[in-house]
Amino acid sequence: MSSDNTGRKRFLVTAALPYANGPIHIGHLAGAYLPADLYCRYRRLRGDDVVFICGSDELGVAIMVRARNEGVEPLDIVNRYHPVIKKSFADFGISFDYYGRTTSETHRETSQSFFNKLAEGGNFTLKEEQQLFDPQAGLFLADRFVVGTCPNCGFEEANGDQCERCGTTLSPSDLINPRSTLSDAVPEMRSTTHWYLPLGKFQERLEDWHSGHADWKPNVMGQIRSWLADGLRERAITRDVPWGVPVPRHAADLAGVDANGKVIYVWFDAPIGYISATKEWAEQQGDPDRWKDYWQDSESTLLHFIGKDNIVFHCIMFPAMLMAHGEYILPQNVPANEFLNLEGRKLSTSRGWAVWLHEYLDEFDPDLLRYALAATLPEAKDADFSWKDFQARVNGELADVLGNFVNRTMTFAHRFYSGTVPELSNPSTADADALSELHSFPDRIGNAYDAFRMREAVFETMALARLGNKYFNDTEPWKTRKDNPQACANTVHVSLQICASICVLADPVIPFAAARLRSMLGLSGRVSADGTSASAIHWADASEPLLKAGHPLGEAEILFEKIDDDVIERQIAKLVSRSAEGSSEPALPFEPARDEIEYDDFAKLDLRMGTVIAADRVPKADKLLRLDVDLGYEKRQILSGVAEQMKPEELVGRRVVVVANLKPRRLRGFDSAGMLLMAEDRDGKLCLIESAGEDGAVVR
Ligand code: MF3
Ligand code: ZN
Repeated sequence: MSSDNTGRKRFLVTAALPYANGPIHIGHLAGAYLPADLYCRYRRLRGDDVVFICGSDELGVAIMVRARNEGVEPLDIVNRYHPVIKKSFADFGISFDYYGRTTSETHRETSQSFFNKLAEGGNFTLKEEQQLFDPQAGLFLADRFVVGTCPNCGFEEANGDQCERCGTTLSPSDLINPRSTLSDAVPEMRSTTHWYLPLGKFQERLEDWHSGHADWKPNVMGQIRSWLADGLRERAITRDVPWGVPVPRHAADLAGVDANGKVIYVWFDAPIGYISATKEWAEQQGDPDRWKDYWQDSESTLLHFIGKDNIVFHCIMFPAMLMAHGEYILPQNVPANEFLNLEGRKLSTSRGWAVWLHEYLDEFDPDLLRYALAATLPEAKDADFSWKDFQARVNGELADVLGNFVNRTMTFAHRFYSGTVPELSNPSTADADALSELHSFPDRIGNAYDAFRMREAVFETMALARLGNKYFNDTEPWKTRKDNPQACANTVHVSLQICASICVLADPVIPFAAARLRSMLGLSGRVSADGTSASAIHWADASEPLLKAGHPLGEAEILFEKIDDDVIERQIAKLVSRSAEGSSEPALPFEPARDEIEYDDFAKLDLRMGTVIAADRVPKADKLLRLDVDLGYEKRQILSGVAEQMKPEELVGRRVVVVANLKPRRLRGFDSAGMLLMAEDRDGKLCLIESAGEDGAVVR
């Protein structure tokens, strides 16, 4: 398979780009991100060259709808969620090499040149058609922007794509009395031209390619077969909406179509996002062409981790695009997962039935959820997450099996062998058997990862801890310590070797605990992420004893605490009450506190009370208001970036806190002498800080 001159295999692993219109929940994790991360961490420990790519999917109609509903711009939405999502992933230990966003310049260029290349190759067809247009909003209406009366059952609020009451699939032109949801205006039919990708032309090549991949998961193959059996049709790949990658001029000129106001369909540009993000990664590495090694070299292995709703795009549409382009490799596998249910019910963000990652992380260690989820991933069919099961896995497996084994071993080593690894001498059959069984684990676990059977890999990982626990029990070191000291030393020696192998082999699943375990074992820094340094311990090394007799151990600590019933009950209650309120969105996380400062740093600020005596808009500056503020001892002109949220007349007369000794600046041709203090909510809403002190009063 793929390798460079050092014998390392090269992998480009992607996880579906999440829409940046909400935070991440456990369903997302179980579908794509956790399995992808398990796989990448495993591969890196094998010593392979892995680039793990993801990013925010920030374009498309879904983001636009969300923005319209809130009365903000699409960019405001993605700027709000991109950092939240990125941080949740990082805190959860998802080890992306690069996390990009599809609003980047690189992405626009990459998508446009991809589109142009396909246009030049004659891969598209163009079709002129009649579509509903909202004359008031000046927009063509996507299906979900039209409502009207269902021709089948007479329901008056049927959507442009489906009637919610009778379930009939509709197209907007089927509706009686159609209305625009944007403006309530009656839409008109207008003609518009769109680009189509005739997938039928790729049917045979796709079939050939799929037939060479009999090893793909049955749930994935099942979907592919049914799409192919139906026969592939053409798919529109442009839209008349104001939020997306603009259809490039070159392609428009080739077609002789006015592309003004047209953008590339989000499912065309989003997978190209994997390529753009890899380019940005390469640039960040200081080697801008390096992305080609991963995307254009047949020695490289491309893998897409996704949830089942994305299968058609990654197994049919994107591969067809890559075939049409001609300069890219095709995915080697698309290990898609089914869905995760929550407490026996379908996950639903709009009904508040979800566990949000940033909220989980406020209360628990990431490893606990990584373990519990990885052990129940919906690999072959839908699976269920329940808080009780979470608790049972944490308490019964992580704490009672793994944690207990490590704790007993460390306690003996510190108490009776002054914190070093005792010598193994005259091993008993039990000692030899344990070591020989240990030998098989890297391959047992590794074979499961190789075959994308993550649950099995997790099970085998825990089996190693079970082996350790059982061996420790069977050899009874608390007895042999008195009557057969060498047997006791042997037990502690062998148990420490098992712990050491665990700190390597469990690293993909519980990376934070594995790092703590390494420091307990005096192996810190030895298991490196890319496995390239000379002293690095690799996956395969874990089949042999890793610790020499006499090796000094680090300090012992409890690896996993048990979770009490009331903690779990609170989680269930939170879920139930949120879904009863029907509140869809959890609060966003608070920004972490900044670095500590000295009192003197604070004392440099001269904060004063003041009153706004005049306020008006600044021409050609959407965000700025010009304010006159009375500070008691003098009047100031201050420019403030609040115009999108506050009207000038609302501000006049308000009491404010001013940073009075801020160096004056010139903004849009006006002097600004100071700054107003304001509280910014987690969703970006601004509030003035008011106080009763007289104008000029010092705030401290
Ligand atoms: N944003 C899509 C979703 O959440 C996934 C996009 S995957 C990509 O379903 F390949 F298009 F990037
Ligand atoms: Zn109906």
